[in-house]
Amino acid sequence: MSNPFREDLVSRNRPESCTVVIFGATGDLTHRKLVPALYNLAADGELPTGVQIIGFARRDWTDESFREGLEKLNKEVSRTGHDDAIWKSLASNISYHQSEFQDEDGYQRLAEKLDRIDQERGAKGNRLFYIASAPEYFDDILLNLKKAGLSQPNEQAAGCWSRVIVEKPFGTTLATAQHLNEVVNGTFEEKDTYRIDHYLGKETAQNIMVLRFANAIFEPLWNKEFIDHIQITCAEHLGMEGGRGGYYDTAGALRDMVQNHLLQLLSLVAMEPPTDLSADGVRDEKVKVLRSLRQWNTPELVAQNVVRAQYIGGTINGKEVPGYREEDRVNPESTTEAYVAVRCLIDTWRWSGVPFYVRVGKRLPKKATEISVHFKETPSVLFNALPGGVPDGNVLVIRIQPDEGISLRMNSKLPGTSLRMEPVKMDFHYATSFGKNSPEAYERLLLDAMAGDATLFARRDEVEEAWRFIDHIENAWHESEQPPEMAEFPAGSWGPREADDLLDRDGRAWRRL
Ligand code: BG6
Repeated sequence: MSNPFREDLVSRNRPESCTVVIFGATGDLTHRKLVPALYNLAADGELPTGVQIIGFARRDWTDESFREGLEKLNKEVSRTGHDDAIWKSLASNISYHQSEFQDEDGYQRLAEKLDRIDQERGAKGNRLFYIASAPEYFDDILLNLKKAGLSQPNEQAAGCWSRVIVEKPFGTTLATAQHLNEVVNGTFEEKDTYRIDHYLGKETAQNIMVLRFANAIFEPLWNKEFIDHIQITCAEHLGMEGGRGGYYDTAGALRDMVQNHLLQLLSLVAMEPPTDLSADGVRDEKVKVLRSLRQWNTPELVAQNVVRAQYIGGTINGKEVPGYREEDRVNPESTTEAYVAVRCLIDTWRWSGVPFYVRVGKRLPKKATEISVHFKETPSVLFNALPGGVPDGNVLVIRIQPDEGISLRMNSKLPGTSLRMEPVKMDFHYATSFGKNSPEAYERLLLDAMAGDATLFARRDEVEEAWRFIDHIENAWHESEQPPEMAEFPAGSWGPREADDLLDRDGRAWRRL
């Protein structure tokens, strides 16, 4: 469901033209996500005309070899397919800039190139720097951009802007995130800093606010009086294919997914209505949720409220897959979790006593992300007083992916002469209701950054609050003398028994996906 307010906001601010400089341009993200996103924006007529793209990386590539590699991947992954004419027009604005990230001279040359592009191609001096390199280069890139005078708007062109998008991981602990924030804020202004969390660009994540605040029927029920608990699940069937194990084994499920994507989803579901739809209006409310998270700040609390696990060998879709420690580029003695389930409590008036159960894992039976809101049972009178009671409580499911949509489960009388009840579903599917594919998250986010709309990007305080919560858990796992156990589950199953126990202790169970 598109949000007319935001559409309006974005189209009003859309720049005529800008140059996008991608650092780490030879990597997978550029090839699989960023350039295809720009291509699809062009194909949909959404990309401002005259957008120039410069790939900045260390390898000895040329404009031609860079474009060829991008074209090959675009053919494979583009959401709207690949049209030669659209590609040619986009590719004529793509170039490659070879430099080490530490080499100041490379940034001077970049500055000259940008000026040249402004003059020759009328790029108007607007610059969007996208830092998609390995995280160890983030500081160098930011500091060198500043030294080359690129972090401030170009003085030669009136009214132009200079912005930076920083990819994840945004730090690995609270301290490293704070350090990175210092560096970012020492080079770009906060209003020009866009910390990307691609889950916020997903159509269904954006729709959470519309569902809650553009419908009168949900908000009055959206609190501890009517909601029993909320579950957020992000399951992936993939493991460590494509060399991903190297990075993942240093991060783990909690840092890789919970610190950013899942806590962002939780904030959207739990936040108070913002005073307006401005970026700060929305982010002020989200950060309050993160600040109100009860901290699991002792190993005992972590053991009671968090389950971590690794998968052992198993079968997914009839195919045998290895255990986590046998995966490519994973330490055979790794103590990194590939699954985590967290019981979160939000200490606010609205949510006091309502658990939010969050789980995420690799090598689960399928890829699916959803939020389910479980309403309280009806009172024990009438149908609930009959033997067997009412079959199930009401559940509102927000399917983030795949098959994006929303469903509401309720109870209905089975046709017939006796009084029997069955749960039924009211179901809304994006694909059938709107008849078109949702844009990829990166399409929306790139366009928003060009338009100067930071609503769907994380603000400094949000990132730091999320790390504060995560740090306590990581410390209990890796610093304490008696760290909470690492559980196991066979690949292709829905996680370890300990995660079921986590809910069972509260008299609840995970929803079956
Ligand atoms: C990334 C994580 O941020 O999100 C990956 O680093 C994960 O481990 C990916 O696979 C999932 O994204 P999506 O959009 O496919 O759900």
